[in-house]
Amino acid sequence: MMHSKILSFFCIFFYGHTLCSFTGTIGVIGTGYVGLTTACLAEWNYPVLCFDCDEQKIMNIQKGVLPIYEPGLEELITKNLSLGRLQCTTRFEELVDRASIIFITVGTPLNQLTQDIDLSAIESVARDLSTHIKEYKIIVIKSTVPIGTAAWLEKFLCENGVSRAHFDIVSNPEFLREGSALEDFFEAKRIVIGTQSKKALNLMRDLYGPLLPHTTFLVTDNITAESIKYASNAFLTLKVSFINEFATLCDQTGANINDIAYALSLDTRIGPLKPGPGFGGSCFPKDTQALLNIGRTHNVDLLTVHAALRANEQRKQVAFKKLQKLFDNNLTDKVVAILGLSFKAGTDDIRNSPSIDLIESLLKHQVYIKAYDPKAMEHMKKLFPMVTYCATLYEAVAGSDALVIMTEWDEFKKINTETIVRTGNQPLILDMRYMLTAGNA
Ligand SMILES: NC(=O)c1ccc[n+]([C@@H]2O[C@H](COP(=O)([O-])OP(=O)(O)OC[C@H]3O[C@@H](n4cnc5c(N)ncnc54)[C@H](O)[C@@H]3O)[C@@H](O)[C@H]2O)c1
Repeated sequence: MMHSKILSFFCIFFYGHTLCSFTGTIGVIGTGYVGLTTACLAEWNYPVLCFDCDEQKIMNIQKGVLPIYEPGLEELITKNLSLGRLQCTTRFEELVDRASIIFITVGTPLNQLTQDIDLSAIESVARDLSTHIKEYKIIVIKSTVPIGTAAWLEKFLCENGVSRAHFDIVSNPEFLREGSALEDFFEAKRIVIGTQSKKALNLMRDLYGPLLPHTTFLVTDNITAESIKYASNAFLTLKVSFINEFATLCDQTGANINDIAYALSLDTRIGPLKPGPGFGGSCFPKDTQALLNIGRTHNVDLLTVHAALRANEQRKQVAFKKLQKLFDNNLTDKVVAILGLSFKAGTDDIRNSPSIDLIESLLKHQVYIKAYDPKAMEHMKKLFPMVTYCATLYEAVAGSDALVIMTEWDEFKKINTETIVRTGNQPLILDMRYMLTAGNA
């Protein structure tokens, strides 16, 4: 279903392909979720060259083995590798030599000690760029970076010997969601371009030519483009935290949170809302934290953003608290099946997944945990080797006292409750994604 949807998008883009007027090679630095999706620009017949500081990752990608799971990505990457439109290199200088537009898509995680964004990957790329740029390049910052990073990079390059005539910097934040990255990228609702340079702007417009008939192409300055990404993610966390908090209230009042979410979503000013176990992933938690820090630096207390984060911390405890209540505060030696480990469906990404919080709390209470996830078990095994990982959801459920749905994978929607009752100890079902027809389980 997902694949046919993606293929139909690409039919549009093959048609749009005739609109491509950019001629040159695209460089991509950092081959994670965003970098590999960006590398699919090769679909438009652009030559793309990827680099990553992790040589093993590059060697694997060359063989068609991707470091991540994202629907449809492996097919597109292997196809473009075999057509020679997509290439990889372990030599940074080769990327700089060959590419005229260089996308920076490296990670910008949160430093757990300082709670500031760790910009070491950006700094390392900046150092390498300063050594190798010898002629005009457009450097596109696609990573999510603190406001002012483009200005910092410009200053850094100039101070480190790169002629100002040899580069322009474009801030081009990425809005893709894991699980639907290709659709989001190639069906982008908006392309935000922050730059001071007309030349860079024209080239970026050419590059994104196939999308222009279907998207809003917003041109602004660098700090505004950087801010748009933070504003966007912060606003989404407000929405998620709001509906999650309301779900907690519904647990007490007995109102149906799915009906409430649906009714609200019919108001176009509000848009879709979906309750869940709390937001996770590599972006929302760190981007909201980064925005709070930015606010603090400018003496602006971002109260709503602060509340969204705080509400999320509380919400991530709800699954455990509900289990405790269901078992009269006696969880010791109980068997709990956790269905879903990734922070959302469609990805193997477990960064900040609410399942991690649940596993930690359950382990502290001597609960025996069985887990199943269609894509994320290998990652979770590294964090929690003591959990029993099962080949199917019914294997996880067999013999369990409770099962908790933590991720909205499609296969969980089709759970056969009769089979579950037969295979388990009449397990209690805790549906933190509100997917089962029973409603507020
Ligand atoms: N994942 C998302 O859904 C998403 C969406 C929008 C924006 N973003 C932003 O995009 C950026 C990348 O996110 P991601 O999820 O793709 O990260 P990721 O962790 O999946 O990938 C980052 C890649 O960068 C590589 N890298 C690190 N330092 C490097 C260096 N010095 N030189 C070359 N490569 C280096 C890593 O090896 C890794 O392969 C982040 O700033 C993130 O906030 C992510």
